[in-house]
Amino acid sequence: MLNITQFLSSTLVLILIILHGDLSAGAKGAPYNEEGVSTITCAYYSENDPDCKDGKCPRPCEGSPKPYCFATWKNGTDGQIEIEMQGCWSVEDDCMNDSQCVQSPSIQHLNFCCCSEPLCNIKVKNVYYPPTLSPPTTTEKNAKVKKLKNGQLTTTLIYSIVPLVGLAAVIVLVFWMWKRFKRQVYYRQQLPTVDPTRDLPPSPGPERPIKLIEVRARGRFGTVWKAQLHDKLVAVKKFPLQDRHSWTTEQDIYRLPHMNHENILKFIGTERRGDNLSLELWLITEFHQNGSLCEYLKGNTITLSELIKMAGSMARGLAFLHDEIPALGDKAAKPAVAHRDFKSKNVLINTDLSCCIADFGLALKFEPGKNPGETHGLVGTRRYMAPEVLEGAISFNRDAFLRIDMYACGMVLWELLARCTATDASVGEYQLPYEEEVGQHPTLEDMQELVVINKVRPAIKEHWLKHTGLEQLSATMEECWDHDAEARLSADCVLERVNQVERNMLTSSLVSPSNTAINAQQLQPLIINTNQGLPPVTPLVQTI
Ligand code: ADE
Repeated sequence: MLNITQFLSSTLVLILIILHGDLSAGAKGAPYNEEGVSTITCAYYSENDPDCKDGKCPRPCEGSPKPYCFATWKNGTDGQIEIEMQGCWSVEDDCMNDSQCVQSPSIQHLNFCCCSEPLCNIKVKNVYYPPTLSPPTTTEKNAKVKKLKNGQLTTTLIYSIVPLVGLAAVIVLVFWMWKRFKRQVYYRQQLPTVDPTRDLPPSPGPERPIKLIEVRARGRFGTVWKAQLHDKLVAVKKFPLQDRHSWTTEQDIYRLPHMNHENILKFIGTERRGDNLSLELWLITEFHQNGSLCEYLKGNTITLSELIKMAGSMARGLAFLHDEIPALGDKAAKPAVAHRDFKSKNVLINTDLSCCIADFGLALKFEPGKNPGETHGLVGTRRYMAPEVLEGAISFNRDAFLRIDMYACGMVLWELLARCTATDASVGEYQLPYEEEVGQHPTLEDMQELVVINKVRPAIKEHWLKHTGLEQLSATMEECWDHDAEARLSADCVLERVNQVERNMLTSSLVSPSNTAINAQQLQPLIINTNQGLPPVTPLVQTI
């Protein structure tokens, strides 16, 4: 209430200031208005305005260097003067006298006078000039009449337009002030409570002695640094304050029970560095010298056994993330987690070429009986977005989100296959999925047209289909990116399929040791044990 009163009173003051300026200029015949143009008040009359006779309609006039008032009249037969026109005049040369309206010798034939004192044109001083002195020509006469008419037209226009423009300006100004006022009130109300750090977890303990060495990656939510902590290399991901939500989400996920898994990036801790204005939010994890899978594939081709190791460990990490683990004894439950930005840049490579999953800034956890929280569907990286995401047609339930991750997993499998040297065919340069079709920076519309409308998927090379292992992996990949989300494989199933390929390769290499694509010794440590002593999980799709 107080705020509205404050607003109204300030608006009123403003209007009064504006009106005061106008009125005082009109009443006192103030010599100058705000722009430095002189003003005076003149009597106004035209034949169409019988009510304005005898100075009843004073009007302000403007002019530079100064304004004048004028009058024209007829001489009646009995020597009386009958005013024809009165108003504003602007040509100094035509005026005889400043204070009185004395007939101008330059326009004698017209009975014209002008003067520059307020209302000096109410009365006119008629002087008779003999026609011989300066006989008027018709052209001169017409020019003067035209000038007078123009002057009147201009005055009429000014008097009708200026008030309208003024009124519009006042309305706009009042509206603008109202908006400004409301914004100020809003911010004043918010100010004491809008602390950008307010929803952050409590400050952790003392700062770790971390030495930043070099920038290793730039992601959606900040920069990843290689850093030294005591005698160990670590990765520091710095989030700007505006991305605090991702920092909070990511550490929330890392702190979930059971998250200490070999195919999930190892979390070390978080820190807040700097003061309030330049606060930086740090997330400290293990450092991986090989960087991301994307970086690795750019610089290296891979053998079939490397592919199997990478694909298997990646699927294992994803299956673990997607799994729900019930509480057991004093160990709390782990909810199912959807990554929501799964891609080769968010898979890191260990020194033994196994993979771990990183970057949980967009992840969603699904705790039984709890709402996963407010979210919208269109998140992630366009290139890796499932058709239902691109279409904006996802259902907001756990399985829908996990299936979106599986589509992206299909894309990463394609990136692996495309760099595999298992066949004799030459391996091309590293390419992102759909790079051939839409280049490096596709728009959302490009992706919608390609993936949703034309249902295109990354090309499957002919030579893959001629190799048993690659053919099986191609089929697995295609089942991951199925247009029908419900038909997609679960991460558990992908892991099973990769293990099957590994077993097949192992048997074939045992049967035919000359098959150099893979050998038993190479494969032995690659067999991934899916039974970690965890309770059985429900895959999204049971078939493998
Ligand atoms: N890029 C992103 N995270 C990384 C990490 N933890 N180690 C190395 N490179 C990375």
